[in-house]
Amino acid sequence: MKLSNEELKQEIQRLKDKLSVTVVAHFYQRDEVFEIADITGDSLELAMRTQADDAEFVLFCGVGFMGQSVKVLSPEKRVVMPKIACCAMARMIDSLYYDESVKFLNDNGIASENILPITYINSNADVKAKVGEMGGMVCTSSNAKKIITTALKEGKKILFVPDRCLGQNIANQMGLKSMVIGQGGDPKEADIICYDGFCSVHQLFTVEDIEFYRKKYPGIKIATHPECDPAICDASDFVGSTSQLIKYITELPEEQKVAVGTEFNMVNRLRPKNTYILSSTKPECPTMNETTLEDVYLTLKSIEDGAPINEIEVDESTQKWAKIALERMLAL
Ligand code: 13P
Ligand code: SF4
Repeated sequence: MKLSNEELKQEIQRLKDKLSVTVVAHFYQRDEVFEIADITGDSLELAMRTQADDAEFVLFCGVGFMGQSVKVLSPEKRVVMPKIACCAMARMIDSLYYDESVKFLNDNGIASENILPITYINSNADVKAKVGEMGGMVCTSSNAKKIITTALKEGKKILFVPDRCLGQNIANQMGLKSMVIGQGGDPKEADIICYDGFCSVHQLFTVEDIEFYRKKYPGIKIATHPECDPAICDASDFVGSTSQLIKYITELPEEQKVAVGTEFNMVNRLRPKNTYILSSTKPECPTMNETTLEDVYLTLKSIEDGAPINEIEVDESTQKWAKIALERMLAL
């Protein structure tokens, strides 16, 4: 018999009380999943807070690279995911495409020892491992500027994967020259060479959406995530990671209108009044939305039954180098 949401919540609570398990959820999760989590946050906060947690199991409600990052940082933890849903952007690059990007730079006269790779945390462990092996590191949307500032001190070309928008947005903020592989330009002339990946959810926001809201509600603020196109971020009043957006929006005076360019679930629960979604199309992340309360319950039940499902495993060599790339970021 199918349990109701109320019954599922009661069962989840019973299992959480009984088992050594911490439930972690990203802000983009469905409301009912988000509400039962012990730890919530943006990608950086989730990586750091979960690493410091001492429960035997981490039950991660998010997308694949997030659970994988916990396992990479703390291989002794048992990480399970109710749905191993892969972020569409992370799926745009693998280690072979990464090697091709390095080769593109080599073919254009930039030797590998003069490349410093940085991967957005929205990438799988094999790509993080490649980056770690080449002396590079991971960044998230909340620390990308700091990481790139540090990286530039080495005087090398930065290969930024996989999100071309985040790479270009940071380059614009810092007055650096950027280019996107496959879109023309000479890498020798650029400071940051971006891989051509993107988030399909954040591509939904357009400059026309901003113009629409500015015309309809003069004085409205526009707040967007740096995975949006550079033209969107340039026209915004505030650009930040999910946590930074939450802080900015919830600290606005009650009567200040704001239109937000990021995932629907998060924006919808932020602020009861004067908050708008910056798109006429509902910006839902399909993979973040895959995890249901029933999935959480079934995963907890599998731990109780002694046969955990959807456990994350990372092979030893990938784990070693991906950890180095993640730890270089955390050290900063
Ligand atoms: P944050 O690190 O800002 O939470 O972003 C994660 C993400 O996937 C945004 O699409
Ligand atoms: Fe990936 Fe975009 Fe979903 Fe974030 S919103 S998890 S980048 S597909």
